[in-house]
Amino acid sequence: MMRATVEQFEEAKSRMSSLKQDPGNDVKLKIYALFKQSTLGPCTTPRPGMLDFINKAKWDAWKALGETPQEDARQQYCDLIGSLVSAEGGSVAAKPSGSASAQYETLLVTTEDKITTIKLNRPAKKNAITTVMYDEIVTALEQAGKDNSVLTVFTGAGDFYCSGNDLTNFTKIPDGGVELMAKQAGELLRKYVKAYIDFPKPLVAVVNGPAVGISVTALGLFDLVYATERATFHTPFSQLGQSAEGCSSYTFPKIMGNAKASEMLLFNKKLTAAQACDFGLVTEVFPDSSFNSEVWTRLKSYAALPPNSLALSKQLIRSTERERLHAVNDAEVELLVERWTSDECFTAIMNFFQSKAKL
Ligand code: COA
Repeated sequence: MMRATVEQFEEAKSRMSSLKQDPGNDVKLKIYALFKQSTLGPCTTPRPGMLDFINKAKWDAWKALGETPQEDARQQYCDLIGSLVSAEGGSVAAKPSGSASAQYETLLVTTEDKITTIKLNRPAKKNAITTVMYDEIVTALEQAGKDNSVLTVFTGAGDFYCSGNDLTNFTKIPDGGVELMAKQAGELLRKYVKAYIDFPKPLVAVVNGPAVGISVTALGLFDLVYATERATFHTPFSQLGQSAEGCSSYTFPKIMGNAKASEMLLFNKKLTAAQACDFGLVTEVFPDSSFNSEVWTRLKSYAALPPNSLALSKQLIRSTERERLHAVNDAEVELLVERWTSDECFTAIMNFFQSKAKL
Protein backbone atom coordinates (compact mmCIF):
# COMPACT_ATOMS: atom_id res chain seq x y z
CA MET A 1 0.00 0.00 0.00
CA MET A 2 1.25 3.50 -0.87
CA ARG A 3 1.85 5.48 2.31
CA ALA A 4 0.80 9.12 2.55
CA THR A 5 3.77 11.38 3.14
CA VAL A 6 3.77 14.05 5.84
CA GLU A 7 3.39 16.66 3.08
CA GLN A 8 0.35 14.86 1.64
CA PHE A 9 -1.15 14.69 5.12
CA GLU A 10 -0.54 18.41 5.70
CA GLU A 11 -2.03 19.13 2.28
CA ALA A 12 -5.10 17.05 3.15
CA LYS A 13 -5.51 19.00 6.40
CA SER A 14 -5.28 22.25 4.52
CA ARG A 15 -7.76 21.02 1.87
CA MET A 16 -10.08 20.05 4.68
CA SER A 17 -10.31 23.71 5.69
CA SER A 18 -11.17 24.70 2.15
CA LEU A 19 -14.10 22.33 1.70
CA LYS A 20 -17.16 24.41 0.99
CA GLN A 21 -19.67 21.59 1.26
CA ASP A 22 -20.69 20.55 4.73
CA PRO A 23 -20.05 16.79 4.80
CA GLY A 24 -22.75 14.69 6.46
CA ASN A 25 -22.41 13.75 10.10
CA ASP A 26 -21.16 10.22 9.39
CA VAL A 27 -18.42 11.60 7.16
CA LYS A 28 -17.51 14.24 9.73
CA LEU A 29 -17.17 11.52 12.36
CA LYS A 30 -15.03 9.46 10.01
CA ILE A 31 -12.77 12.45 9.31
CA TYR A 32 -12.47 13.12 13.03
CA ALA A 33 -11.73 9.47 13.84
CA LEU A 34 -9.13 9.09 11.09
CA PHE A 35 -7.41 12.30 12.13
CA LYS A 36 -7.21 11.18 15.76
CA GLN A 37 -5.95 7.73 14.77
CA SER A 38 -3.35 9.28 12.44
CA THR A 39 -1.97 11.65 15.03
CA LEU A 40 -2.53 9.90 18.37
CA GLY A 41 -2.94 6.21 17.48
CA PRO A 42 -5.68 3.91 18.80
CA CYS A 43 -8.28 5.44 21.10
CA THR A 44 -7.36 4.98 24.76
CA THR A 45 -9.24 7.96 26.19
CA PRO A 46 -12.14 7.33 28.58
CA ARG A 47 -15.55 6.77 27.03
CA PRO A 48 -17.66 9.91 27.48
CA GLY A 49 -20.78 9.56 29.64
CA MET A 50 -24.02 8.28 28.09
CA LEU A 51 -25.54 11.76 28.01
CA ASP A 52 -22.56 13.40 26.38
CA PHE A 53 -23.94 12.49 22.94
CA ILE A 54 -21.58 14.39 20.66
CA ASN A 55 -18.35 13.34 22.34
CA LYS A 56 -19.66 9.79 22.69
CA ALA A 57 -20.35 9.59 18.94
CA LYS A 58 -16.84 10.85 18.24
CA TRP A 59 -15.32 8.45 20.72
CA ASP A 60 -17.26 5.53 19.17
CA ALA A 61 -16.05 6.48 15.68
CA TRP A 62 -12.42 6.67 16.83
CA LYS A 63 -12.68 3.45 18.88
CA ALA A 64 -14.18 1.66 15.85
CA LEU A 65 -10.83 2.09 14.08
CA GLY A 66 -9.41 -0.39 16.59
CA GLU A 67 -5.72 -1.06 16.06
CA THR A 68 -5.57 0.43 12.53
CA PRO A 69 -1.92 1.56 12.20
CA GLN A 70 -1.38 5.34 12.22
CA GLU A 71 0.12 5.26 8.72
CA ASP A 72 -2.93 3.48 7.29
CA ALA A 73 -5.23 5.94 9.05
CA ARG A 74 -3.23 8.81 7.59
CA GLN A 75 -3.58 7.35 4.09
CA GLN A 76 -7.33 6.84 4.55
CA TYR A 77 -7.64 10.40 5.84
CA CYS A 78 -5.85 11.78 2.77
CA ASP A 79 -8.00 9.61 0.45
CA LEU A 80 -11.22 10.70 2.12
CA ILE A 81 -10.39 14.42 2.00
CA GLY A 82 -9.22 13.99 -1.61
CA SER A 83 -12.53 12.34 -2.58
CA LEU A 84 -14.54 15.12 -0.92
CA VAL A 85 -12.53 17.80 -2.68
CA SER A 86 -13.01 16.00 -6.03
CA ALA A 87 -16.74 15.71 -5.38
CA GLU A 88 -16.72 19.47 -5.01
CA GLY A 89 -15.16 19.80 -8.45
CA GLY A 90 -11.63 19.96 -7.12
CA SER A 91 -12.02 23.55 -6.03
CA VAL A 92 -9.49 24.38 -3.38
CA ALA A 93 -9.21 27.87 -2.01
CA ALA A 94 -5.83 29.49 -2.31
CA LYS A 95 -3.70 28.77 0.71
CA PRO A 96 -3.59 31.81 2.97
CA SER A 97 -0.13 33.18 3.76
CA GLY A 98 -0.59 32.06 7.35
CA SER A 99 -1.77 28.46 7.05
CA ALA A 100 -4.64 27.67 9.41
CA SER A 101 -5.35 24.11 10.46
CA ALA A 102 -9.00 23.19 10.60
CA GLN A 103 -8.80 19.88 12.38
CA TYR A 104 -9.23 21.28 15.86
CA GLU A 105 -12.59 21.59 17.49
CA THR A 106 -11.49 23.76 20.40
CA LEU A 107 -8.41 25.56 19.08
CA LEU A 108 -7.40 27.91 16.31
CA VAL A 109 -3.89 27.03 15.24
CA THR A 110 -2.09 29.17 12.67
CA THR A 111 1.46 29.64 11.49
CA GLU A 112 2.52 33.02 10.23
CA ASP A 113 5.78 34.99 10.27
CA LYS A 114 7.56 31.91 11.71
CA ILE A 115 5.24 31.93 14.73
CA THR A 116 2.79 29.12 15.44
CA THR A 117 -0.11 30.41 17.50
CA ILE A 118 -2.31 28.09 19.52
CA LYS A 119 -5.44 30.01 20.42
CA LEU A 120 -7.89 28.51 22.91
CA ASN A 121 -11.21 28.93 21.16
CA ARG A 122 -14.16 28.49 23.53
CA PRO A 123 -14.75 32.15 24.35
CA ALA A 124 -18.35 31.57 25.49
CA LYS A 125 -16.97 29.30 28.23
CA LYS A 126 -14.04 31.60 28.97
CA ASN A 127 -11.81 29.03 27.22
CA ALA A 128 -12.29 26.40 29.93
CA ILE A 129 -10.28 23.30 29.03
CA THR A 130 -12.37 20.22 28.24
CA THR A 131 -10.88 16.73 27.90
CA VAL A 132 -11.04 17.13 24.10
CA MET A 133 -9.18 20.42 24.40
CA TYR A 134 -6.44 18.88 26.58
CA ASP A 135 -5.89 16.26 23.89
CA GLU A 136 -5.96 18.84 21.11
CA ILE A 137 -3.42 21.07 22.88
CA VAL A 138 -1.08 18.11 23.27
CA THR A 139 -1.42 17.38 19.54
CA ALA A 140 -0.96 21.06 18.62
CA LEU A 141 2.19 21.26 20.76
CA GLU A 142 3.58 18.09 19.20
CA GLN A 143 3.02 19.54 15.73
CA ALA A 144 4.35 22.99 16.63
CA GLY A 145 7.47 21.35 18.07
CA LYS A 146 8.15 19.81 14.66
CA ASP A 147 6.98 22.51 12.24
CA ASN A 148 9.11 25.24 10.69
CA SER A 149 8.12 27.93 13.15
CA VAL A 150 10.62 29.56 15.49
CA LEU A 151 8.30 30.51 18.37
CA THR A 152 5.09 29.01 19.67
CA VAL A 153 2.52 31.32 21.21
CA PHE A 154 -0.42 30.47 23.46
CA THR A 155 -3.34 32.83 23.77
CA GLY A 156 -7.11 32.88 24.25
CA ALA A 157 -10.04 33.97 22.08
CA GLY A 158 -12.36 36.60 23.52
CA ASP A 159 -11.98 38.51 26.77
CA PHE A 160 -10.45 35.68 28.85
CA TYR A 161 -7.15 33.91 28.53
CA CYS A 162 -8.53 30.74 30.11
CA SER A 163 -10.76 29.76 33.04
CA GLY A 164 -8.81 26.58 33.76
CA ASN A 165 -10.06 23.04 33.87
CA ASP A 166 -13.62 22.78 32.55
CA LEU A 167 -15.49 21.73 35.67
CA THR A 168 -17.97 19.74 33.60
CA ASN A 169 -15.09 17.28 33.06
CA PHE A 170 -15.93 16.09 36.57
CA THR A 171 -19.58 15.47 35.79
CA LYS A 172 -18.89 12.86 33.11
CA ILE A 173 -18.52 9.79 35.29
CA PRO A 174 -17.61 6.64 33.32
CA ASP A 175 -19.07 3.22 34.06
CA GLY A 176 -16.06 2.47 36.26
CA GLY A 177 -17.10 5.23 38.68
CA VAL A 178 -15.36 8.26 40.18
CA GLU A 179 -12.10 6.39 40.83
CA LEU A 180 -11.77 5.50 37.16
CA MET A 181 -12.67 9.07 36.14
CA ALA A 182 -9.97 10.42 38.49
CA LYS A 183 -7.37 7.93 37.22
CA GLN A 184 -8.08 8.77 33.57
CA ALA A 185 -8.11 12.50 34.28
CA GLY A 186 -4.76 12.06 36.05
CA GLU A 187 -3.22 10.38 33.01
CA LEU A 188 -4.53 13.12 30.74
CA LEU A 189 -3.10 15.80 33.03
CA ARG A 190 0.27 14.03 33.24
CA LYS A 191 0.46 13.89 29.43
CA TYR A 192 -0.65 17.50 29.12
CA VAL A 193 1.97 18.91 31.50
CA LYS A 194 4.64 16.63 30.01
CA ALA A 195 4.00 18.24 26.61
CA TYR A 196 4.99 21.63 28.11
CA ILE A 197 8.01 20.28 29.99
CA ASP A 198 9.39 18.63 26.84
CA PHE A 199 8.45 21.38 24.38
CA PRO A 200 11.62 21.98 22.34
CA LYS A 201 11.22 25.62 21.19
CA PRO A 202 10.63 28.93 22.97
CA LEU A 203 7.06 29.01 24.28
CA VAL A 204 5.35 32.35 24.83
CA ALA A 205 2.10 33.06 26.66
CA VAL A 206 0.16 36.08 25.39
CA VAL A 207 -2.21 36.48 28.33
CA ASN A 208 -5.05 38.48 26.81
CA GLY A 209 -7.30 38.50 29.90
CA PRO A 210 -7.97 36.77 33.23
CA ALA A 211 -6.37 33.37 33.77
CA VAL A 212 -7.49 30.69 36.22
CA GLY A 213 -6.20 27.31 37.43
CA ILE A 214 -4.00 25.27 35.15
CA SER A 215 -3.66 28.12 32.67
CA VAL A 216 -1.86 30.00 35.45
CA THR A 217 0.19 27.15 36.89
CA ALA A 218 1.49 26.12 33.46
CA LEU A 219 2.94 29.64 33.01
CA GLY A 220 5.90 28.54 35.13
CA LEU A 221 6.85 26.29 32.20
CA PHE A 222 6.76 29.07 29.57
CA ASP A 223 9.80 31.02 28.44
CA LEU A 224 8.06 34.40 28.19
CA VAL A 225 4.75 35.61 29.61
CA TYR A 226 3.30 38.84 28.24
CA ALA A 227 0.09 40.08 29.85
CA THR A 228 -2.43 42.81 29.27
CA GLU A 229 -2.98 45.02 32.31
CA ARG A 230 -6.52 43.55 32.43
CA ALA A 231 -5.22 40.05 33.17
CA THR A 232 -5.55 38.47 36.60
CA PHE A 233 -3.98 35.25 37.86
CA HIS A 234 -6.00 32.99 40.13
CA THR A 235 -5.42 29.42 41.36
CA PRO A 236 -8.40 28.59 43.59
CA PHE A 237 -7.31 25.03 44.34
CA SER A 238 -8.13 24.75 48.03
CA GLN A 239 -11.43 26.51 47.40
CA LEU A 240 -12.21 23.61 45.03
CA GLY A 241 -10.89 20.89 47.36
CA GLN A 242 -8.04 20.30 44.92
CA SER A 243 -4.26 20.83 44.84
CA ALA A 244 -1.61 22.44 42.65
CA GLU A 245 -0.62 21.12 39.20
CA GLY A 246 1.37 22.21 36.15
CA CYS A 247 4.59 21.81 38.23
CA SER A 248 3.61 24.97 40.13
CA SER A 249 4.36 23.32 43.50
CA TYR A 250 7.98 23.56 42.34
CA THR A 251 8.07 26.47 39.85
CA PHE A 252 6.03 29.00 41.87
CA PRO A 253 8.15 28.89 45.07
CA LYS A 254 11.23 29.05 42.82
CA ILE A 255 9.90 32.02 40.86
CA MET A 256 8.31 34.10 43.63
CA GLY A 257 9.50 32.60 46.93
CA ASN A 258 7.56 30.37 49.34
CA ALA A 259 5.53 33.08 51.00
CA LYS A 260 4.02 34.50 47.83
CA ALA A 261 3.60 31.08 46.25
CA SER A 262 1.70 29.80 49.29
CA GLU A 263 -0.63 32.75 49.22
CA MET A 264 -1.56 31.81 45.65
CA LEU A 265 -1.47 28.01 45.77
CA LEU A 266 -2.87 27.44 49.26
CA PHE A 267 -4.96 30.52 49.99
CA ASN A 268 -6.41 31.31 46.54
CA LYS A 269 -4.94 34.83 46.32
CA LYS A 270 -5.75 36.38 42.96
CA LEU A 271 -2.91 38.49 41.53
CA THR A 272 -3.24 41.51 39.30
CA ALA A 273 -1.03 41.60 36.21
CA ALA A 274 1.22 44.16 37.90
CA GLN A 275 1.64 41.94 40.97
CA ALA A 276 2.33 38.86 38.85
CA CYS A 277 5.00 40.85 37.04
CA ASP A 278 6.55 42.05 40.31
CA PHE A 279 6.67 38.44 41.53
CA GLY A 280 8.39 37.24 38.34
CA LEU A 281 5.56 35.10 36.97
CA VAL A 282 4.93 37.60 34.14
CA THR A 283 7.71 39.00 31.97
CA GLU A 284 6.01 42.30 31.09
CA VAL A 285 2.62 43.99 31.31
CA PHE A 286 1.21 46.15 28.49
CA PRO A 287 -1.67 48.64 28.36
CA ASP A 288 -4.78 46.88 27.10
CA SER A 289 -5.23 49.38 24.26
CA SER A 290 -1.82 48.61 22.70
CA PHE A 291 -1.38 45.05 23.98
CA ASN A 292 -1.69 43.23 20.66
CA SER A 293 0.30 45.62 18.54
CA GLU A 294 3.17 45.93 21.02
CA VAL A 295 3.39 42.22 21.78
CA TRP A 296 3.17 41.02 18.19
CA THR A 297 5.70 43.56 16.94
CA ARG A 298 8.10 42.26 19.52
CA LEU A 299 7.37 38.59 18.83
CA LYS A 300 7.88 39.04 15.10
CA SER A 301 11.32 40.51 15.74
CA TYR A 302 12.18 37.60 18.08
CA ALA A 303 11.03 35.10 15.43
CA ALA A 304 13.66 36.52 13.07
CA LEU A 305 16.46 35.37 15.39
CA PRO A 306 18.46 32.26 14.41
CA PRO A 307 16.05 29.37 15.12
CA ASN A 308 18.58 26.71 16.08
CA SER A 309 20.33 28.96 18.52
CA LEU A 310 17.00 29.77 20.18
CA ALA A 311 15.79 26.17 20.34
CA LEU A 312 19.09 24.74 21.54
CA SER A 313 19.47 27.41 24.21
CA LYS A 314 15.93 26.80 25.42
CA GLN A 315 16.64 23.05 25.60
CA LEU A 316 19.86 23.72 27.50
CA ILE A 317 18.03 25.80 30.10
CA ARG A 318 15.29 23.17 30.44
CA SER A 319 17.76 20.28 30.65
CA THR A 320 19.01 21.43 34.04
CA GLU A 321 15.70 20.50 35.61
CA ARG A 322 13.72 18.43 33.14
CA GLU A 323 13.90 15.27 35.29
CA ARG A 324 12.88 17.14 38.39
CA LEU A 325 9.90 18.67 36.57
CA HIS A 326 8.73 15.22 35.45
CA ALA A 327 9.00 13.97 39.04
CA VAL A 328 7.04 17.00 40.29
CA ASN A 329 4.38 16.39 37.62
CA ASP A 330 4.04 12.75 38.76
CA ALA A 331 3.69 13.74 42.42
CA GLU A 332 1.13 16.45 41.68
CA VAL A 333 -0.94 14.07 39.54
CA GLU A 334 -0.87 11.42 42.28
CA LEU A 335 -2.23 13.85 44.86
CA LEU A 336 -4.85 15.24 42.49
CA VAL A 337 -6.18 11.79 41.63
CA GLU A 338 -6.82 11.35 45.36
CA ARG A 339 -8.33 14.87 45.66
CA TRP A 340 -10.71 14.34 42.73
CA THR A 341 -12.36 11.46 44.57
CA SER A 342 -12.71 13.47 47.81
CA ASP A 343 -15.93 14.82 49.28
CA GLU A 344 -14.31 18.26 49.51
CA CYS A 345 -13.80 18.39 45.76
CA PHE A 346 -17.20 16.93 44.93
CA THR A 347 -18.99 19.47 47.14
CA ALA A 348 -17.01 22.42 45.76
CA ILE A 349 -17.76 21.51 42.15
CA MET A 350 -21.45 20.93 42.86
CA ASN A 351 -21.51 24.35 44.52
CA PHE A 352 -20.07 25.97 41.39
CA PHE A 353 -22.74 24.46 39.16
CA GLN A 354 -25.51 25.13 41.64
CA SER A 355 -24.45 28.77 41.80
CA LYS A 356 -24.72 28.78 38.01
CA ALA A 357 -28.00 26.84 38.21
CA LYS A 358 -26.50 24.24 35.91
CA LEU A 359 -27.60 21.13 37.84
N1 COA B 1 -15.65 25.12 33.81
C1 COA B 1 -16.88 25.02 33.25
N2 COA B 1 -17.58 26.08 32.83
C2 COA B 1 -17.02 27.29 32.95
C3 COA B 1 -15.75 27.46 33.51
C4 COA B 1 -15.05 26.30 33.95
N3 COA B 1 -13.83 26.38 34.46
N4 COA B 1 -15.45 28.77 33.51
C5 COA B 1 -16.50 29.40 32.95
N5 COA B 1 -17.45 28.50 32.63
C6 COA B 1 -18.72 28.77 31.97
C7 COA B 1 -19.76 29.30 32.93
O1 COA B 1 -20.42 28.23 33.59
C8 COA B 1 -20.66 30.05 31.97
O2 COA B 1 -21.47 29.12 31.28
P1 COA B 1 -22.95 29.57 30.78
O3 COA B 1 -22.78 30.71 29.86
O4 COA B 1 -23.47 28.33 30.11
O5 COA B 1 -23.69 29.94 32.04
C9 COA B 1 -19.69 30.62 30.95
O6 COA B 1 -18.52 29.82 31.04
C10 COA B 1 -19.31 32.06 31.22
O7 COA B 1 -18.84 32.14 32.55
P2 COA B 1 -19.46 33.13 33.66
O8 COA B 1 -19.24 32.51 35.00
O9 COA B 1 -20.85 33.49 33.31
O10 COA B 1 -18.52 34.40 33.45
P3 COA B 1 -17.97 35.36 34.58
O11 COA B 1 -17.20 36.41 33.85
O12 COA B 1 -19.06 35.79 35.50
O13 COA B 1 -16.94 34.48 35.44
C11 COA B 1 -15.15 32.96 35.83
C12 COA B 1 -15.84 33.86 34.82
C13 COA B 1 -14.03 32.22 35.10
C14 COA B 1 -14.54 33.79 36.94
C15 COA B 1 -16.17 31.96 36.44
O14 COA B 1 -16.90 31.33 35.40
C16 COA B 1 -15.49 30.88 37.25
O15 COA B 1 -15.17 31.08 38.41
N6 COA B 1 -15.30 29.69 36.64
C17 COA B 1 -14.68 28.57 37.30
C18 COA B 1 -13.19 28.72 37.27
C19 COA B 1 -12.52 27.58 37.97
O16 COA B 1 -12.76 27.32 39.13
N7 COA B 1 -11.67 26.85 37.23
C20 COA B 1 -10.99 25.70 37.72
C21 COA B 1 -9.77 26.14 38.45
S1 COA B 1 -8.92 24.76 39.14
